[in-house]
Amino acid sequence: MPFRTIIEPFRIHSVEPLHMTTKAQREAAIAEAGYNVFSLRARDVLIDLLTDSGTGAMSRDQWAAIQHGDESYAGSPSYVIFRDAVQNLFPFTHVIPTHQGRAAEKILFTVVGGAGVVIPNNTHFDTTRANIEYTGAEAIDLVIDEGRDAQSEHPFKGNMNIEALRDLLRTRGSHVPLVMMTITNNSGGGQPVSLQNLRDVRAVCDEFGKPLFLDACRFAENAWFIREREPGQHDRDVVDIIRDIAALADGMTMSAKKDPMGNIGGWLALNDDALAESCRNLLILGEGFPTYGGLAGRDLEALAQGLTEVVQHDYLRYRIQSTAYLGEALHRAGIPVVRPIGGHAVYIDARAMLPHIPPLQYPGQSLAVALYETGGVRGCEIGTVMFGRHTDGTEHPAAMDLVRLAIPRRTYTQSHIDYVIEVCEEVGRTRDNLSGYRITTEPAQLRHFTATFERL
Ligand SMILES: Cc1ncc(COP(=O)(O)O)c(C=O)c1O
Repeated sequence: MPFRTIIEPFRIHSVEPLHMTTKAQREAAIAEAGYNVFSLRARDVLIDLLTDSGTGAMSRDQWAAIQHGDESYAGSPSYVIFRDAVQNLFPFTHVIPTHQGRAAEKILFTVVGGAGVVIPNNTHFDTTRANIEYTGAEAIDLVIDEGRDAQSEHPFKGNMNIEALRDLLRTRGSHVPLVMMTITNNSGGGQPVSLQNLRDVRAVCDEFGKPLFLDACRFAENAWFIREREPGQHDRDVVDIIRDIAALADGMTMSAKKDPMGNIGGWLALNDDALAESCRNLLILGEGFPTYGGLAGRDLEALAQGLTEVVQHDYLRYRIQSTAYLGEALHRAGIPVVRPIGGHAVYIDARAMLPHIPPLQYPGQSLAVALYETGGVRGCEIGTVMFGRHTDGTEHPAAMDLVRLAIPRRTYTQSHIDYVIEVCEEVGRTRDNLSGYRITTEPAQLRHFTATFERL
């Protein structure tokens, strides 16, 4: 393309007002929230980059599909439309709708988990890990070493360490019911997995007779990275790459709040008939009848339409380039970010940016609060607040102290992102004035959601 500007491949059809606030109002709001951005009223946030999950804008055609929803309890035609859209990309025999990704995880791991069981993954997302551990099983992360290095420029930092997987299956294989791969690797910075690595994982699974399951929330973004970065993939339709990925797996868990462009939804899909029957029985217990799971017919229709939109090349090119636009601008401004830039989010390295704040005074928390106070931008600490407290009660610095700026799909324009860049630059200029925090109250688990803080 001869032009530099990445234009949004859509125009605005319906608008939602943003609520402007002054710095004094934001300082009061965050103090009232106990300096925890999760406790802010969303209305007081100008640009909300807390998550890309369920926060995207649906298209005109998705809203139209909602009108087509059939709410029959059993045998709804909306289920058939949904199932066919899933199977068009992921041709697994059984497609089981759930209300979101973690419900699919809970069902799967209730069936295959339990004390003594081991589940390897490149990196388990926190709900995946929690659902595995809740059954008494062990969740093991086997991402390649580059995936743990914020500055490594490896093009596929989500790849599985094949030797480590083989070692695990050799020594503890009888305890492993399945192998998982998360595409893209959210907890590792939204980094992709290569098709070659998936083929290598499949070969190791075959060697040890293990099924391979995908945690496929961002499958289209991952497939686009494969098209962009993997030798021999460049001229291919992203749909064919996705089908190649699916053909390597035996099943998947899915949060449809990400790439399927839904505000709610998920599914579990798999080939094994006996396993599918056990999962369906649990679905009926906790979610609903198998042709709607945890969703309304209208949600199923919106997701089916979303699945046709997310694989469009113009959309994916814009999506990946616009996330990189933010990340590269911050990098140029001297703000340390995890590299290369991932698909759905930019991760600022708060520990490197604020070296005067020790990890146990939460540099990520300090940065997240400063971004909000300075410009009403809400990101999310992913560091010592989130991971520092251990089950034995001790507290240790997390491996990294990051602030994630997750980009909702099709929601903000380039001028919003230019504004975010300016806010980050302003915080960068005044970074020496930022101080650390102390936790004043925290719950027993998942403290980052509800803890309160005091500025030091
Ligand atoms: C990789 C990954 N797996 C699973 C989930 C859980 O999905 P949900 O939030 O729909 O329960 C998420 C959500 O962020 C995720 O990013």
